[in-house]
Amino acid sequence: MTDHCGALPEGPVSAPPPWWKTAVVYQIYPRSFAEGSARTGDHAADGVGDLRGIIEHLDHIAWLGADALWLSPIFTSPMADFGYDVSNFCDVDPLFGDLGDLDDLVAEAHRRGIQVILDWVPNHTSIEHPWFQESRRDRTNPKAAWYIWRDTPPNNWNAAFPRGDTAWLLDDTRGQYYLRSFCKEQADLNWDNPDVEAAMLDTLRFWLDRGIDGFRMDVVHMIGKDLTADDPPEAVAKQIPHVPFNDVEVTHERLRRIRSVLDGYPGERASVGEVYLLDEDAMSRYYGDNDELHLSFNFSFLWAEPTPASFRERITTTLAHLERVGGWPTWALSNHDVPRHRQRHGRDERLARITALLLLTLPGTPFLYQGEELGLLDAEIADEAMIDPGRRDGCRAPIPWTAEPNHGWPTSPWLPFAPEAEHRNVATMTNDTTSIAHLYRELVHLRARSPSLQTGSFSWVGSTSRGVEGGGVEDGGSDGEGFSDGEVLAYHRGDEWTVVANFGSASVELDTFGLNLRSVLATGLQPLQGRIVPGFSGVIARRD
Ligand code: NOJ
Repeated sequence: MTDHCGALPEGPVSAPPPWWKTAVVYQIYPRSFAEGSARTGDHAADGVGDLRGIIEHLDHIAWLGADALWLSPIFTSPMADFGYDVSNFCDVDPLFGDLGDLDDLVAEAHRRGIQVILDWVPNHTSIEHPWFQESRRDRTNPKAAWYIWRDTPPNNWNAAFPRGDTAWLLDDTRGQYYLRSFCKEQADLNWDNPDVEAAMLDTLRFWLDRGIDGFRMDVVHMIGKDLTADDPPEAVAKQIPHVPFNDVEVTHERLRRIRSVLDGYPGERASVGEVYLLDEDAMSRYYGDNDELHLSFNFSFLWAEPTPASFRERITTTLAHLERVGGWPTWALSNHDVPRHRQRHGRDERLARITALLLLTLPGTPFLYQGEELGLLDAEIADEAMIDPGRRDGCRAPIPWTAEPNHGWPTSPWLPFAPEAEHRNVATMTNDTTSIAHLYRELVHLRARSPSLQTGSFSWVGSTSRGVEGGGVEDGGSDGEGFSDGEVLAYHRGDEWTVVANFGSASVELDTFGLNLRSVLATGLQPLQGRIVPGFSGVIARRD
């Protein structure tokens, strides 16, 4: 071996982490992202975003530095729940384009190094799906047992939409009740029937064969159910839907079989499950023994109060449970189902900047929801004007691309824009280096350059040992420093970084958190002021 060939690596070479561990994922809600101009030639502009629109705006996602995009449903659907009521799992709804457009989108995304995750909806189908059409015909047809039919409702479960309605609906044709955990147009599939499971696994193979990199799995904790278990009567009286109570063992076997399908394909095909259980212990079990979900959403963190104490508790609990199962965390603050976090957190952009710092420096995979990089609020829509059965229209407002009227959309979009679109739009904010969009971009790029931020250890400031992959998460403050009990949350990532999030009004000294720290990026608008972290701001600092 000559010198110019370089030295052989010593010892075992560790494989690079899979993409879904190091990625920043950007969620696209296709109806509201962008409507393609290329498509309007043969298809009159209708104000609904589509796949061509996404292709035309992929450079924004590349500019931000996201490594993967998750497309909310694009499959054929009557749109009673805006695509979560699927009538054909193996085609694209004409509203969004066609299979060719999707292939182009995947190719264009891959050309930019961006992975593509599709939304797969395994718990239910549209009642217009041919499977349900056949199933409802009578009690003896070949698909008679593909859905969950009973002569009388066997439990007290509530549906999600509209709130408080029973989950069991009488179908006049068949003369029996069917379970629908969401809208009346969404019938729950009967996963106890092996034919259903086989058919659904085939739908995964269809997309995997087309080169899709992974799936976000809609309410995947619901593919197993115990119909004999009533929900707590107090919860039913409060109109709480059944969804957060559904947690049964058989689902795990099914997830292992789903995982085997993904593992049978080359590359790292990934799953992220929507496990809507508001308890980190229960949620963490859906990772199995590294043989169920690759990732699971973590709704306890999403719903945390925006205070240091609350974030600290949720982060500590999450990391402890995931360490137990060897699972990789995810972090998200917004999505298409909940009011945007700036809206929920009191509208102050300074707080939205601090939470961006947390989201992008915690150990795990961050999921961003389109428009949060603009600091968007929800659109203001009168109750009677809402069109979503779950009244989630506000957070689904269209992305404003420019400052002009219609904000870059070819025609007035299907929902009104959020307030402040005259300056909270992509063109204005990407031209302003002090904007929150630039902060997101700098954080995403810093993370991409730093293995310590991607996969390095984590510990609260004040703890003596640390490690996410290795040594576990130590509860800081045991030596009395207690930085996060008050207004400040502070943690280390690897030996390199310290993150300080100051939720209070008073400045804090950076030196309090470690020796020789030097701010590299601050969330505030002021230039870095030596070793000070001003009130209502955060910094990521490097050890000199
Ligand atoms: C969760 C999805 O995120 C939501 O939008 C949908 O209404 C329900 N699942 C039902 O599919």
